[in-house]
Amino acid sequence: MTKAVGIASDHAGFEYKELIKTWLEEAGYKIKDFGVYDNSRRLDYKAVKSLADGVIAKDVSRGIAICGTGLAVSIVANKVKGIRAAVCNDLYTAKKSREHNDANILAFGSRVIGFGLAQEITETWLKTAFDGGRHEERNKYIDSI
Ligand code: RB5
Repeated sequence: MTKAVGIASDHAGFEYKELIKTWLEEAGYKIKDFGVYDNSRRLDYKAVKSLADGVIAKDVSRGIAICGTGLAVSIVANKVKGIRAAVCNDLYTAKKSREHNDANILAFGSRVIGFGLAQEITETWLKTAFDGGRHEERNKYIDSI
């Protein structure tokens, strides 16, 4: 992946965002951080909206969005046409979200999974390719809604 991977969170996901960002940079990934930039409570889903816009504009290859559960960030991201954000708090879902759904944003919850699992989910998701084939048409329909 030569283009940067985007990352964003709300306040509840901020600490995991910082840790995942550093870990991925150390592994050689380019990362674009869309915020938030501290863990203070605020109306902070604009960062996730910007990440989703960045994926659609091909400013970043794919995105990672983190909140307490993964739900709020996925709901926000999926409002942007063309985004297929998947909440993956386990490895099987992370793998299938790429193989079947061609998910372009990974969401998970800092209050649901430990950091070690978050790393494994992220690595699996970044390295798994879309299967294409019969899934193409399904995704086209989803994108047309
Ligand atoms: C924030 O308290 C929490 O509600 C949010 O991060 C997210 O988990 C909601 O889905």
